Amino acid sequence: MYALWVMFSWNTHSKPLIALAPMADMTDSSFCRVVKSLSTTPIIFREMVSSEAIVRENEKTWKMTKIHSQERPVIQQIFGGDPMVMARAATLIEENNHPEGIDINMGCPVHKLTQNFNGAALMKEPEKASKIVKAIKQVISLPVSVKIRTGWSQETECLEFVRVLEEAGADLITIHGRTKTQGYSGKANWDIIRQAKKNVSLPIIANGDITSAELALQALQETECDGITIARGALGNPWIFLQIDELLSGKPLTPVTLEQRVHLVQKHVRLQIENQGEHGIITFRKHLTWYFKGIPGAKQFRERLHTITSLTNLDDLLKEMLNTLAN
Ligand SMILES: Cc1cc2nc3c(=O)[nH]c(=O)nc-3n(C[C@H](O)[C@H](O)[C@H](O)COP(=O)(O)O)c2cc1C
Repeated sequence: MYALWVMFSWNTHSKPLIALAPMADMTDSSFCRVVKSLSTTPIIFREMVSSEAIVRENEKTWKMTKIHSQERPVIQQIFGGDPMVMARAATLIEENNHPEGIDINMGCPVHKLTQNFNGAALMKEPEKASKIVKAIKQVISLPVSVKIRTGWSQETECLEFVRVLEEAGADLITIHGRTKTQGYSGKANWDIIRQAKKNVSLPIIANGDITSAELALQALQETECDGITIARGALGNPWIFLQIDELLSGKPLTPVTLEQRVHLVQKHVRLQIENQGEHGIITFRKHLTWYFKGIPGAKQFRERLHTITSLTNLDDLLKEMLNTLAN
């Protein structure tokens, strides 16, 4: 028997492209496995890692890039401002982890990145941005995508910037519908994404403020993009991808019961501990906040959820929540 290995391609992947957006400290392997256990549809963008740290062989950073087969297809995002270092990091990740693609972060507004002329700062330096894409394309065989914002300070900046990236050889671009200056304030501008899409022929993914399956379909329609990607809307709600599957196939949405929520939390926390050791219970607290946000009656348990210190502690609390809230 011959196994036929087909390389991942943004162009031939079924449309619409539905993806989990990269989120630092959130889209780690355990969360991505939870997402994929509910729907195999989403393409996973793993959280950004520093190209410098990858090249320096920083152990913690390398650990962050480990991929479990259940997560695939997985796109590893990297950040940095030096084309040679970025190219070296992409090569090392390709050789060691075999993700389905490499994504370049040109949208992060955090000062730590932009002060070093990377992340969203690259939108102010199209020449350098182009050099980075070209340098990576030259050395790896995987698809290379780029994640940008609508601009540094003006929403119209992306209209030309997407052309620069296409010319440099990018295979796909994700656009978050806010400028760097906006940060996370205001509303994502889906219309400017639609305009940017018209300026290029490579696939474009729309991003920003897609917090429900209904909004995912609306964003696809309004932006006329090849796909959408969801960040915050998936936190505490990894079912969102299953619900998108349901809407796309004309089925009614299945509501999530409290039992299902609790069961998934128990599964997620165990994966987190498997990956991070006992400390995983502490880093899991942020997910607990998201899982029980807005759940009727859950407020009274908030303080205890935030201060959980052991798995037994959490299991007991979840049992108590089920008994109290299900009645
Ligand atoms: C906690 C958090 C971490 C993020 N980390 C990254 C990251 O590592 N790389 C990146 O390109 N964007 C990152 N983002 C931005 C998201 O990918 C996304 O563009 C933004 O949140 C808008 O989408 P949303 O409205 O669906 O949340 C992050 C966002 C959040 C909330």
